[in-house]
Amino acid sequence: MDWGIQNRLSRIIQPKTGRTVMLAVDHGYFLGPTSGLENPRKTITPLLPFADSLMLTRGVLRTSVNPQNNVPIILRVSGGTSILKELSNEAITTTIQEAICLNVAAVTCSIFVGGEFEKESLMNLADLVNEAAPFNIPVLAVTAVGKEMTRDSRYLGLSCRIAAELGAHFVKTYYCEGFEKVVESCFVPVVVAGGKKTPERDALQLSYNAVTHGAVGVDMGRNIFQSEKPVSMIQAVRAVVHQGATVDQAFDLFQTLS
Ligand code: 5RP
Repeated sequence: MDWGIQNRLSRIIQPKTGRTVMLAVDHGYFLGPTSGLENPRKTITPLLPFADSLMLTRGVLRTSVNPQNNVPIILRVSGGTSILKELSNEAITTTIQEAICLNVAAVTCSIFVGGEFEKESLMNLADLVNEAAPFNIPVLAVTAVGKEMTRDSRYLGLSCRIAAELGAHFVKTYYCEGFEKVVESCFVPVVVAGGKKTPERDALQLSYNAVTHGAVGVDMGRNIFQSEKPVSMIQAVRAVVHQGATVDQAFDLFQTLS
């Protein structure tokens, strides 16, 4: 792998632990003013010291993140859809030139395997890999799951493997039973999405399950920024991902910090 790609990836996946806590705040690109992200700057600023990277759109980045911040940026460059219509019908929204101008560490787009616009979304990924390659910018593929799909190891394994085959440098997917099979058959690092807001202990359990079954970390959004105590929550997630804390230890930490 090229030096530039390795260097950028090592800003995201911490070489000390081989793990990462990515903070996802890109939800508005199809959900609009998501609860907890109505004022992105207010939500993001206190969490930044605890995030290994920030996943977001150019709109939020330009307006709501202080450029003096050194947090690695994973720029969401797919979109063009809303929850009111077919979500798989995404296109690439942001040029690689703009990603370079914004000094990003990686770019990301979603794929919708089995979705109505499966081929288009896979070609978005392939085209993005092609565009980013001359500049050594890594690409994160997000395996979006349509309502009609089952989040099992067979489906997620299929999506992750296709993403890796098309050249994604790392993949974001969901945790499921038999998750180790998903990781084993995907030859690039895998991070796990948090999903809908659940009680803090459950989200810590998810983080624990993810890393103990082979994920390099989490790319978590709602379970952090929709927590009553987001700053405590992200630190508890860090304890699981980077320090090998058990769920009980991490939940104790969450309660103590709160
Ligand atoms: C949407 C995304 C989101 O960033 C991701 O799902 C958000 O994380 P969470 O599920 O933890 O809120 O990639 O496609």
